[in-house]
Amino acid sequence: MQKSIVGKHAQYKKLESNILQISQEAKALKKQYDDVIDATVGMLHREEGNVFKFQVVQDALYHLNDSQTYHYAPVRGTKNFSEGVFNWVFGPYAEQLKQQFHYSVIPTTGGSGAVSNTFYNFNDFNQKVLLPNIYWSPYENFALEANIQLHTFQMYDDLYRFNVEDFKKEAIQLAKEQGRLCVLLNDPCNNPTGLCMTMDDWKQVISILNEISETDVPVILIQDIAYIDYQMKTTELSREVFTNYFDLNDDILVVVVFSGSKTFSLYGFRVGAQIGLSKSSKVIEDFTRVGDYSVRGRFSSVSQPGMNIIEKIFTSEDMRDRFETELQIGRKLLKDRAELFLSEATKNDLEIYPYCGGFFISVPTKNKNIFKDLVEDHVFVIPMQGLIRVAISSLNLADIPELVRKIKKHI
Ligand SMILES: Cc1ncc(COP(=O)(O)O)c(C=O)c1O
Repeated sequence: MQKSIVGKHAQYKKLESNILQISQEAKALKKQYDDVIDATVGMLHREEGNVFKFQVVQDALYHLNDSQTYHYAPVRGTKNFSEGVFNWVFGPYAEQLKQQFHYSVIPTTGGSGAVSNTFYNFNDFNQKVLLPNIYWSPYENFALEANIQLHTFQMYDDLYRFNVEDFKKEAIQLAKEQGRLCVLLNDPCNNPTGLCMTMDDWKQVISILNEISETDVPVILIQDIAYIDYQMKTTELSREVFTNYFDLNDDILVVVVFSGSKTFSLYGFRVGAQIGLSKSSKVIEDFTRVGDYSVRGRFSSVSQPGMNIIEKIFTSEDMRDRFETELQIGRKLLKDRAELFLSEATKNDLEIYPYCGGFFISVPTKNKNIFKDLVEDHVFVIPMQGLIRVAISSLNLADIPELVRKIKKHI
């Protein structure tokens, strides 16, 4: 028999994205029936059903000149883009972080490119990244593509709180086994559950990472903040979580994953960034060196118009103010939907994971046929590890009471 056309390392590859497939099925059935509820799409939509686009983003896009639209972008982006993203992400703590840390911003193809590059460069092949047992499934694709694996700890304790104990146990063991520890936490506003770790959770996590780094093990913390701008808090308060970084030991590398898709609704433009922070200048030199190389080596550079839209908004006071005002409207859409969902859940005695922000609410379930049962009732959600994920980002308020009633019926 002929040998396989595919290289040995690629034999396992088969894209099984149930999320995209289920979304297609929901759209097809919606064309046939009026009562179909599609809670699968991770893009923010208005009540009328169209995507929540920012007028200020649209204006910036329409005013780009030819070079800002068509020319190749520099691998490192521009200083205005990097500084704009850094200052937005860290808000009131940006200046203090700049004083105490070395940092570097590498533009990437969305938050996805940022996670993918980080997995690839900060692990040896076959090593494992530690993350909670409930996670956004594309992390698996990024890991396999980087020739690494995922290793999980229990995300919740019995009271649905972040499980620091299990995190500690698995982190110490993994660090011992492989002489390296790379941790991924999608916080705040976890996808799929909406969990936000508390300040105390973060303090404990950082003290565990410090303890491990003192055993001469390289420690990398990836914080995926894709949904930070949709926490049920003001922009300023949602940044408080970063004050915990000040306690980090010198040699630890933090990589903050920024997504232009979520913050600006620029889903199709593929803009994001890896923001590296460390108290060690050598660590950030290395982060920048391998980051630049991988951008060129893996996707060449990032969307020129996408980066320029973001740069324009962050370099004009007026545009930035307009952006913040519109963001509050987007946040309010989610807040109203979340509040209604929670009050309907209470009325129907439906247990849900604690939600504090983001595009998704999750409902634990033991029903193995939950997906099929709900589809028969014309409801589409994403089934995941022992739960169903409900995208409140794409629901409208009017559908929520019926949706909760149907979930309760089958859960
Ligand atoms: C948890 C999480 N991280 C990162 C991303 C990255 O999105 P993008 O690559 O579009 O920036 C997403 C998108 O759904 C996500 O849910």
